[in-house]
Amino acid sequence: MTLGTPLSGNATKALLLGSGELGKELAISLQRYGVEVIAVDRYENAPAHQVAHRSYVIDMTDAEAVKKLIALEQPHFIIPEIEAIATTALAEIEAEGLCTVVPNARAIQLTMNREGIRTLVAQQLKLPTSNYAFAQSFEELLAAVEAGIGYPCFIKPTMSSSGKGQSMVKNPEQLKAAWDYAKSSGRVDTGKVIVEAKIDFDFEITLLTVRALDANQVIQTYFCAPIGHRQENGDYRESWQPQIMSAASLALSQDIAFKVTQEIGGLGLFGVELFIQGDQVWFSEVSPRPHDTGMVTMVTQKQNEFELHARAILGLPVNTDLQQAGASAVILGGVDAMGVSYEGLAQALTVPDSEVRLFGKPEAFTHRRMGVALASADSVDEAKNNAIKAASYVMVKV
Ligand SMILES: Nc1ncnc2c1ncn2[C@@H]1O[C@H](COP(=O)(O)OP(=O)(O)OP(=O)(O)O)[C@@H](O)[C@H]1O
Ligand SMILES: [Mg+2]
Repeated sequence: MTLGTPLSGNATKALLLGSGELGKELAISLQRYGVEVIAVDRYENAPAHQVAHRSYVIDMTDAEAVKKLIALEQPHFIIPEIEAIATTALAEIEAEGLCTVVPNARAIQLTMNREGIRTLVAQQLKLPTSNYAFAQSFEELLAAVEAGIGYPCFIKPTMSSSGKGQSMVKNPEQLKAAWDYAKSSGRVDTGKVIVEAKIDFDFEITLLTVRALDANQVIQTYFCAPIGHRQENGDYRESWQPQIMSAASLALSQDIAFKVTQEIGGLGLFGVELFIQGDQVWFSEVSPRPHDTGMVTMVTQKQNEFELHARAILGLPVNTDLQQAGASAVILGGVDAMGVSYEGLAQALTVPDSEVRLFGKPEAFTHRRMGVALASADSVDEAKNNAIKAASYVMVKV
């Protein structure tokens, strides 16, 4: 891989579709190799806009707008950071062969819709998942639950993320409300919802999996130490690394992650979400990009998930070794307001081996992630306590 000089005629250019906090860290990682970074989002002054060489505001679900921008910028790499993208435009651009969609257009298409990835993993690869069904009407949903999925179960829009439109249903009386919520709150109404039996897991992990070239230019699969996390309303609150787990369940997790990412193909980092109970493992979903729970790697690994993604994309070698135990705890907006200010940083940073990242989002919402506190320590428990403590000191003020 030959890299150019940014802002010159031979620049190596990367276009980020989605410019949130994960995109911001990725932009910084890419810029360390002199890559020219163009950040795109649907609103102005998104986190990655603030560190990129250039930025644009477009509707990324509008295929024509996406194609027009790509024709204008002619990037070498198109790196999706979010799921709500006009994927047909990406497939067309990939087919022209002028640039690389990371990891590839099919991966983006498969993972933006729960039906695509679930069908691939459960039916084609025959890997363990929760029992599931797709329903196009309330009657179909009820029939699927009664025919075997049972209660409790999760109802989710087929196109959504961060827990939007998702609910857990414990009895038949709650089913209609869950159907209405899923139908009305998905990113796009595909006309379908997925219903999944609830897995009674001991814990859930994100297994960051990297497909990168080795010294012989051959694609290898590398795994980071498992990341444990706690979710609330479908969004993560704390994550920690390493999650202690049995050798058998780790081996199974790596086997599942290997098979799924090999089938998806391409180069880059993937966040494979898995449920663990005893030595049993179930696949839940996969992001073909850095994962929010993986922000913990900014204090635990020499090469964090953004550095790993950047290196893998650029065809450079990677090292996924864990250096120390650590944890992350999110800092939520707590208010709905523009241009908020932050207090308590000094106190937060008195917590031993802690760091705070403020994303600089122009607008706060009650449940919007505005920052993250990170801590490393000798043990995961200590790191978790310290990350939570550091996050609690940061106050978002109107
Ligand atoms: N079948 C299930 N059994 C048990 N728990 C589940 C199941 N499905 C979802 N959950 C819980 O809900 C969380 C969110 O689910 P899921 O990852 O499918 O949603 P999402 O909207 O894609 O979230 P995100 O975008 O934050 O990953 C899971 O991490 C898990 O804690
Ligand atoms: Mg998830």
